[in-house]
Amino acid sequence: MSEWTADEMPRLDGKTVVVTGANSGLGFEGTREFAAKGATVVMACRSVERAEEAAREIRADAGGEVDGELDVRECDLASLDSVASFADGLAADYDAVDVLCNNAGVMAIPRSETEDGFETQFGVNHLGHFALTGHLFDLLDAAEGIGGDARVVTQSSGAHEQGEMDFSDLNWERSYGKWKAYGRSKLSNLLFAYELERRLDAADDEGEDPGIRSVACHPGYTDTNLQLRTAAESGNPLMKVGMKAANAVLGQEPEIGVEPMLFAATTDVDGGAYVEPGGLMNMRGHPTVGRSNDASYDREDARKLWEYSTEATDVEYPL
Ligand SMILES: NC(=O)c1ccc[n+]([C@@H]2O[C@H](COP(=O)([O-])OP(=O)(O)OC[C@H]3O[C@@H](n4cnc5c(N)ncnc54)[C@H](OP(=O)(O)O)[C@@H]3O)[C@@H](O)[C@H]2O)c1
Repeated sequence: MSEWTADEMPRLDGKTVVVTGANSGLGFEGTREFAAKGATVVMACRSVERAEEAAREIRADAGGEVDGELDVRECDLASLDSVASFADGLAADYDAVDVLCNNAGVMAIPRSETEDGFETQFGVNHLGHFALTGHLFDLLDAAEGIGGDARVVTQSSGAHEQGEMDFSDLNWERSYGKWKAYGRSKLSNLLFAYELERRLDAADDEGEDPGIRSVACHPGYTDTNLQLRTAAESGNPLMKVGMKAANAVLGQEPEIGVEPMLFAATTDVDGGAYVEPGGLMNMRGHPTVGRSNDASYDREDARKLWEYSTEATDVEYPL
């Protein structure tokens, strides 16, 4: 069984790490750990107020100042304009991005739409991150990275196993199941992460090595706000009680749940790997490299999703 912990992360002085959803749960913990190792962490959050509060908490816990730096910026993944403005701001102020953690997400909420008219779980969890990664491609390309490569780390979930692609209704206009939509958004995260790695590999074969690795991960069952937001949006007070109890009994601490993301970002893991907890049913414990379900490695679905995402977001990768 793996015993890897965040203590084994290398120093990250001089590195720039972007974390989406950095104000809460796994993003918050990741920000704390990266900054403790000396990185400049760009906290890409939809609420600057909540992000500044989180940054204050991280600094206070560290005794007043972190080893690295915290840079709070607005990035609402439910708005392609917000994602583009965030990326423009970063390009103006930074020369390179060494690690991008595509972490933010929403789970099993009632059907709603993003500013651009996409179903919110698909739009935020997948399309927002697809657009963000594409916009940041040049900054990733310019980075020295970690172990020679910049990293794109995409946070999926064991729930990808419940996901099914239906390219005739990606935005759930015909019918909507909130858990099915969550599963599909998390399967989309994996199809994207592996397709990105294949395209990077192909560029490498043609001698145009962008020096970027794409790695996927999932945190197991971790006690965060994710489940509480699901309950709050359901409008069912009993669900809130149930989710809180389940989190308390089954959820692991965010300090452990974040380890797969940290491992994917900083160890010499292969591009295209899937990092998950190595303990009970891959829902708990320290990180290990595993395998996601067969559907997530379907190349035809990955190609179709990439083409749809390019058109839907109007973001082209040079791959
Ligand atoms: N916790 C688990 O057991 C578990 C299991 C499997 C996978 N995951 C995955 O882990 C990731 C992180 O979740 P978490 O557990 O840390 O939950 P969390 O505590 O609820 O954090 C989610 C983060 O995403 C942000 N977010 C939501 N919508 C956004 C948007 N439109 N634009 C930008 N940011 C947005 C939230 O911002 P606000 O605070 O402003 O809402 C929050 O910072 C998610 O991708 C989730 O699917 C979690």
